Amino acid sequence: MDNQKKMTRREWMAAVFSGVALTAGYGVLAGEGLLFLLPEGGAPKTRKIFAGQISKYRLGAVQTFYDLQGNQIMVRRSESGFEAFSSTCPHLGCKVNWEEENNRFFCPCHRGIFDADGLGIAGPPGDAGQRLATVPVEVDEAGGVVYLEVKDVKVRGGKG
Ligand code: FES
Repeated sequence: MDNQKKMTRREWMAAVFSGVALTAGYGVLAGEGLLFLLPEGGAPKTRKIFAGQISKYRLGAVQTFYDLQGNQIMVRRSESGFEAFSSTCPHLGCKVNWEEENNRFFCPCHRGIFDADGLGIAGPPGDAGQRLATVPVEVDEAGGVVYLEVKDVKVRGGKG
């Protein structure tokens, strides 16, 4: 007696479609895995964000903004132009404040002091020769506007 059952046309179609679906599923999974493992091509993307009108900046004063990751940026106007600094202390990450009356940045956590150019001059950042991270500034004199160039937010599957 023959134990082999002959496959019906319906069973054969179901088997073929299951195989195709399984192959497509593993293909997508493999593609996603490969994208995760491979480094992103090209230079990191940046984006310009508005950092106020030039006329609203007082000499020696700081205005604060936030980048697209929510990090605070302090923009200072000096005789030589505009400079922007991260408010994150390079010592242990506390928030640094601008003290206009002392013309310096101060970190209250360990009494770290930075000069007006962001260089650590006292406390742990001074001892370690650390400085505040800078953020590129673009001044549009014609438009009377200041911009910051910040790291863009990666949107998975997006075009930017
Ligand atoms: S975290 Fe700023 S001085 Fe330590």
